[in-house]
Amino acid sequence: MIKIKSDREIELLRKAGSIVYKTHQYLKPYIKSGISTKKLDKLAEDYIIKQGATPSCKGYEGYPATLCISINEEVVHGIPSNRKLKDGDIVSIDVCACYKGYHGDSAWTYAVGDISDEKKSLMKHTEEALFKGLEQVKPGNRIGDISNSIEKYANLYNLGVVKELVGHGVGSCLHEEPDVPNYGKANTGPLLKEGMVIAVEPMLNLGSADIYMLDDGWTIITDDNSPSAHFEHTVLVTKDGYEILTGE
Ligand code: MF3
Ligand code: CO
Repeated sequence: MIKIKSDREIELLRKAGSIVYKTHQYLKPYIKSGISTKKLDKLAEDYIIKQGATPSCKGYEGYPATLCISINEEVVHGIPSNRKLKDGDIVSIDVCACYKGYHGDSAWTYAVGDISDEKKSLMKHTEEALFKGLEQVKPGNRIGDISNSIEKYANLYNLGVVKELVGHGVGSCLHEEPDVPNYGKANTGPLLKEGMVIAVEPMLNLGSADIYMLDDGWTIITDDNSPSAHFEHTVLVTKDGYEILTGE
């Protein structure tokens, strides 16, 4: 069942989303060569707690940290460690926070220093793919319209669309119905209705779409070691479109 959120729930989801957005803004100046991913994680955890929220990921199915930090060929769910960022890396930071029982979820890929033109183009097109998907978010459209729009855009640039991981509903659980795949047929799948809240999150690879999981049980890597980018917003379906909950 896909939940339609009450006004009270929407207010809490707005607040959670805003804390997630502010966490990204807070982290940005620290995303530089030399910082360890563990340090970024600690900064985020302290910040989220200061905002009166809790990190949704910590303890989620045993996940050990606040952030998922995925560098270069890591697609998602990279575990913060003593590894340091270096110039030329791209780093995807996934922030999830829970405020009074309601979650916000947003991932963004950042450049560390100067990066290659290929990586720049991957980042630009993955961010654009997110917004191509969001353009389809309105009552009367279906989840497949979002999926198809993202896939078609990625295909234009020959980017690999990760299929095993999908966007999702967001509410009092971090992952709710429906699944929001980044590929599929237009005019198929669940109907979007005012008051639904979903996270749309394309993960696109510069090479093959294929992925595998590291032995740590979390980190997802591209099969061909090509770089991967991830852009995600949590959005509310409104009367005639969408409202980004994890934005300004
Ligand atoms: N935003 C991530 C997702 O939707 C959250 C992962 S939390 C984790 O998959 F605990 F699973 F890492
Ligand atoms: Co998500």
